[in-house]
Amino acid sequence: MTHSKKTSVAPKPWGGRFSEGTAASVEAFTASIHYDARLYRQDIAGSCAHAKMLAKQGLISQAESESIIEGLETIKQEIERGEFVFRPELEDIHMNIEKTLVEKIGPAGEKLHTARSRNDQVALDLRLYLREESGRLIDLLTSLQKAFVTLARKNLSAVMPGYTHLQRAQPVLVSHHMLAYYEMFGRDIDRLNDGLKRINVLPLGAAAMAGTGLPIDRDFVARELGFSAVSANSMDTVADRDFAVEFLSACTLIQLHLSRLSEELVLWASEEFSFIKLADAFCTGSSIMPQKKNPDIPELIRGKTGRVTGNLMALLMILKGLPLTYNRDLQEDKEPIFDTVDTVGSSLAIAAELLGNMEFQREHLLEATSGGYMTATDLADYLVLKNVPFRQAHAIVGRTVAHCIEKGVDLTDLSIAELQQFSESIEEDVFKVLSVSGSVESRVSKGGTSGKAVSARLQEAEVKLGLA
Ligand code: ARG
Repeated sequence: MTHSKKTSVAPKPWGGRFSEGTAASVEAFTASIHYDARLYRQDIAGSCAHAKMLAKQGLISQAESESIIEGLETIKQEIERGEFVFRPELEDIHMNIEKTLVEKIGPAGEKLHTARSRNDQVALDLRLYLREESGRLIDLLTSLQKAFVTLARKNLSAVMPGYTHLQRAQPVLVSHHMLAYYEMFGRDIDRLNDGLKRINVLPLGAAAMAGTGLPIDRDFVARELGFSAVSANSMDTVADRDFAVEFLSACTLIQLHLSRLSEELVLWASEEFSFIKLADAFCTGSSIMPQKKNPDIPELIRGKTGRVTGNLMALLMILKGLPLTYNRDLQEDKEPIFDTVDTVGSSLAIAAELLGNMEFQREHLLEATSGGYMTATDLADYLVLKNVPFRQAHAIVGRTVAHCIEKGVDLTDLSIAELQQFSESIEEDVFKVLSVSGSVESRVSKGGTSGKAVSARLQEAEVKLGLA
């Protein structure tokens, strides 16, 4: 056979049946070490547990197992000190570590891969990695929740317009708005926790895909590595990346929630809204317009939602149409996962910091609640309590608002006599419900915006987060 380019002289751990070296172009195309080196800790932890099990089962000697573990520890330290030389001709992190181990400790190192394949090894590394990262993201989400709860406590009495269709709808407490995000990110924590149930299953022992005839003890390895279960079908085990899809979709929802928050912060920081002030240290300027103070952090978080969603799509497409069991396509799972982990992690961290460095402009918020007839629903509810059917009440208030618009006044500017022209059921006590604070306080239903309901939920949140 002819091929144009040079071939590598480096012997491969799998090179036995090959009569010529790998083409350099093929080596370059198939290598993943430039990104999967990131899994070195998981790879070493998995190998140590595997070596212990092999010794316990009498497949290698105790001395060999100890020598393997010691060698792997040395390699870990070398990687951490930046002294380890990663070799692209050894393809991936698994073979880089194994080959170096053999060079360090000799034949004992060649026994490490007993009853194991890179197919179950890479699945193990990925599961260990996602288990760790799920925990880290949950911590970051919890910190973000704390930032919202802190803002809710600090602004407990402040009111602001609540919107539907980005039109002023009904007045709400600022705290109610902040706690909406507390709930949203709480669901993200639940989702990651739920995904952990499926991540935390030991794949090692599936070997290439059919299991092994050697007398291994998978339950022992599971206990060593803190897995709560052992996978049930070796074929499914090396082919499965569902747990990674779930992780990426949970991450996409996190980023999407951050994006919706970002959109609000960008709007609120504008001259037009003036609802918040962002600290100078958390904004950037314009190179041409000296007056500018731009909310680049929320804009970038919003923008990064594109790549996080794209990474989820990438993994879904990698898996679509893959026959059982392992296929090299699966190597393409790692870059989208790493990118999402980095992007979502840094976005969560900076968002929490940003929230700690912003102030609500309470006067502007209050101002924005006057006008816009935001207590119109309250007037309708008032009439309902006076036994007017809701549809009639809706029409009465509609006419009253039309009248106000024509006169250029607010509902609270009308005299009782004027109000009574629209309905005889209206009495002196109506003014209480027409005020912004009266409106807010009236929403006592569970989950509503009254001070009582919001305080109760805030208290629960503070207890849960250890803030109270
Ligand atoms: N680097 C590979 C991956 O990430 C490891 C498994 C390779 N297995 C194989 N038989 N080529 O998926």
